[in-house]
Amino acid sequence: MKKNKKFYRDNLKELKPYDPHEVPYKIKLNANENPYGLPEEIIEEILSEAKNLKYFRYPSANSVKLSEIVSSFCGLNRDNIVIGNGSDELIDYLIKAFSEKGRRIITTAPSFAMYKIYSIISGSNFAQIPLNQSNFSLNEDKVLEEAKKEDSSIIFIAYPNAPTGNYFAEDKIIKIIEESGCLVVVDEAYYEFGKKTFVPFISRYDNLVIIRTFSKAYSIASLRVGYLLSNPEIINEIRKVKSPFNVNTFSQLVAQVVFENKEILKDSIKKIIEEREKLTNRINEIPPFKAHPSRTNFVLVEVGSKENSDLVYNNLLEQGILVQTASDPIFSTSRYFLRITVGNEEENDILVKGLEIVSKNRSLK
Ligand SMILES: Cc1ncc(COP(=O)(O)O)c(C=O)c1O
Repeated sequence: MKKNKKFYRDNLKELKPYDPHEVPYKIKLNANENPYGLPEEIIEEILSEAKNLKYFRYPSANSVKLSEIVSSFCGLNRDNIVIGNGSDELIDYLIKAFSEKGRRIITTAPSFAMYKIYSIISGSNFAQIPLNQSNFSLNEDKVLEEAKKEDSSIIFIAYPNAPTGNYFAEDKIIKIIEESGCLVVVDEAYYEFGKKTFVPFISRYDNLVIIRTFSKAYSIASLRVGYLLSNPEIINEIRKVKSPFNVNTFSQLVAQVVFENKEILKDSIKKIIEEREKLTNRINEIPPFKAHPSRTNFVLVEVGSKENSDLVYNNLLEQGILVQTASDPIFSTSRYFLRITVGNEEENDILVKGLEIVSKNRSLK
């Protein structure tokens, strides 16, 4: 039927709509949200300020106040920042501004899924360089080999990486920034859990972009706010492709209040890190699972075969526990993984019990 319809795009043929896994669940451990949410006192402050917002006006186009407080905290200014409707939108903007059909975008395997989706939508070529099989380290020479091809434009590096949860060596990333000739995007979505950053390098390199999000440690995934930091030339290019009023007024306000009160979130970040370590150890006591060390708020759990992966995922879901599949055939066709968000204490207990039940399933190899 579609054959005669000239308006369909060839490069979207193989793309499936994003699957948000909207299935019934009791415990949600699939999207790396902060399970503790915002403290009551912050919610009170937000609600009282929200009464005075001008709902009939368009939002501040460049999220001016939020841009000022976030950029100045990072030792930068408004010319160094773009606020996005989630960092997903910023990934889309980067690709719109710096790639197109005939150009190539590079990342690791495995890596964050949206880099590929937005690359395909833009018509760009997409290359993934597998991480080292034993320790998920970055193969910087292979990345550089791909980057030096004439059509390569952007390299996305998640730091820490998702879904593996590890940091890559800083000197390898610096080498990529210095030698690739590409725009290098360091995605620090999980920055607050590990605190390593490339922000100080923004003034040194003219091809470096950092992206961060309010969806993880800052607990406002529902409101879709992320930010991008770079030098003014890069920021100017991104503003050319940005929707003028991309972040709504309420989200700007909430992000601002949360950022100004970020000290209060330290407790929940600390609890998540403690729970992560406990959870990793507990999962490692349940055969055949292997939980890899993580510097984020999720744990990558190796489950063995494809059959095991399906069985564990489905069996957990039958118990009301929603997790995320995280295997990547470009990384390996024989290793299978689930990515599990660190929940609160009670949720993690239920998860561990759930995994113990699955582990006794005789079909599990
Ligand atoms: C590495 C990484 N980058 C970006 C995002 C997108 O975050 P958001 O669009 O909610 O800001 C995520 C979310 O899971 C992520 O894991």
